[in-house]
Amino acid sequence: MESKPVMNGSSGIEARGLRNRYIGGLSGGEVGERVTVCGWVARVREHGEHLVFVDVRDYSGIVQVVAHSTLDLRSEYVVQVDGLVSMRPPGTENPGLATGNIELTETVIEVLSSADPPPFSLLDRVDVDEATRLRFRYIDLRRDRMQHNLRARARINSAIRSSMERQGFTEIETPLLWTPTPEGAREFVVPSRLHQGSTYVLPQSPQIAKQLLMVAGFDRYYQIARCLRDEDLRADRQFEFTQLDLEASFVTQRDIMDFISDAVVSAAEAADIHVNSEIGEISWKDAMDRFGSDKPDMRFGNELIDVTSVFARTEVRALSSPCLKALVAPNPVSLSRSKLDDLVDRAKLLGAKGLLWLRVVASDNGLLLESPVSKFLTEQETSDLIAAAQVADGDIILIVGDIWEKACQVLGQVRLDLGKSQAHPDEYKFTWVVDFPLFEGIDQDGRLISAHHPFTMPNQEDFPRLESDPLSVRSQSYDLVLNGWELGSGSIRIHRGAIQSKIFSLLGISEEEAHNRFGFLLEAFKFGAPPHGGFAFGIDRLAALLVGEENIREVIAFPKTQSGSDLMTGAPKEIDRKVWDLLGLAVKDSKKDLS
Ligand code: AMO
Repeated sequence: MESKPVMNGSSGIEARGLRNRYIGGLSGGEVGERVTVCGWVARVREHGEHLVFVDVRDYSGIVQVVAHSTLDLRSEYVVQVDGLVSMRPPGTENPGLATGNIELTETVIEVLSSADPPPFSLLDRVDVDEATRLRFRYIDLRRDRMQHNLRARARINSAIRSSMERQGFTEIETPLLWTPTPEGAREFVVPSRLHQGSTYVLPQSPQIAKQLLMVAGFDRYYQIARCLRDEDLRADRQFEFTQLDLEASFVTQRDIMDFISDAVVSAAEAADIHVNSEIGEISWKDAMDRFGSDKPDMRFGNELIDVTSVFARTEVRALSSPCLKALVAPNPVSLSRSKLDDLVDRAKLLGAKGLLWLRVVASDNGLLLESPVSKFLTEQETSDLIAAAQVADGDIILIVGDIWEKACQVLGQVRLDLGKSQAHPDEYKFTWVVDFPLFEGIDQDGRLISAHHPFTMPNQEDFPRLESDPLSVRSQSYDLVLNGWELGSGSIRIHRGAIQSKIFSLLGISEEEAHNRFGFLLEAFKFGAPPHGGFAFGIDRLAALLVGEENIREVIAFPKTQSGSDLMTGAPKEIDRKVWDLLGLAVKDSKKDLS
């Protein structure tokens, strides 16, 4: 059949080969023209008198095709249709369809492939369990939701690339067969055939490679990088994921935050979401104090209040804590006594010793507090608490006492549990969290633990306290948060040997261990390392949030299940003994299942 290429009306893409039109581009303007389209049969409706209506679908749309019922056409058959664009008879138009006022008549239909009945309906409104969707992912991907998500993700990627190029970054690919990097996650290992007994490691991120590229003088590097981490999977975690990874030389933290802000604002625009290009920032300390989280969801208020001083002289055991944080419950009306008991259990599950609740009631003598502990409170404590929490009749105050970080974290989670429904789903609140602590704590062996990674530069002002009070030292690191999800993190790196040695020694990493693990990087730094810093954010997470999904699997073509399996291919699979032999490996117990 002759194919005459025509630019498609809606997408501007030229239809070629077996067709000369994309379905979504057909319109009343083409009435009287013969066109050729290709696609899948979405629906067949018998209409008596040897007439059938066939809905044919390609990714761009659906069109009604009038055909003879002598044809054996079934759902998901692949067809080529040559037909005349005609107006539908008055009264038969379908306003719910972009092509709803036309149909193809006088058709010649060729079946290009027959198809078994699909295992589930392709209509988005029909709920299908996820295991079935993943088992037949190629069919699931035909559905509008997945077509929309993956195409939006492609536009997001493209916008990020353009932003990077605009800002003078050079895209460089780094190896997948690599060596361990100290970033905290368990790594996937790849046994070497040529060097039996040795392995490569798949990169958790291009962290070290990009720092080497700075030593190599590339100045501004970026990569849309595939990263691999063998960690427990969750809604926002997969084994394989993609980062926008960048590193730049001779820059400040502010510069990197500006580069990244440009990229994410451009990405949001590519997903038709307009966000404020001035992204606000909050210090880690304030984020914890006010929102009880280092990834605060700032779409709603209900900030935590410090009420430690109110109960400084309390007799009540439950209130004698180093720190007392309070939260005024959003939607207090719905918090019945049994819901409050559930909240107490929830707080304990989160690691708190308990949670106190106090209901505010109006009386002739002003506001009172009703609570299992109210009779133990002094009048002063009651009035101070009411004033500090700024409550009114009907409000409920929730209090958690513990060390500062724990009290904040527990109440921060309760804030999310109770308040998240208040957040508008179409609101996008990017926030920078800055001034993280350099160390997140001390391990069982008394060694400090890096909060980001050991190459993170301490905050200049806090240098003098590195040895005397290391846990109070802030780092030059920064996270980007969107609607309560951590999107990415980065830091200014240590580029001087003396500072790096000091940090290694504080972390309990001996010179020998440092040399064995990343001697090649330390060696490179001896040959002229520019001051540098960088950042990486998860594109899966960004894309999921921008298209309104709650699980990153919905923006990944072939994701793994929560237990790390690919239900379509059956991976991971046992492999042939011959392969083990070739790699010089022996399996102790191939049936061991740790999932
Ligand atoms: P970090 O480890 O914080 O930093 O990772 C950056 C971002 O990558 C995404 N991410 C993930 N997404 C999906 N599944 C996972 N398993 C997963 N793990 C991480 C998150 C996260 O915020 N090298 C440093 C960056 C730097 O310092 O330049 C790094 O990788 O969105």
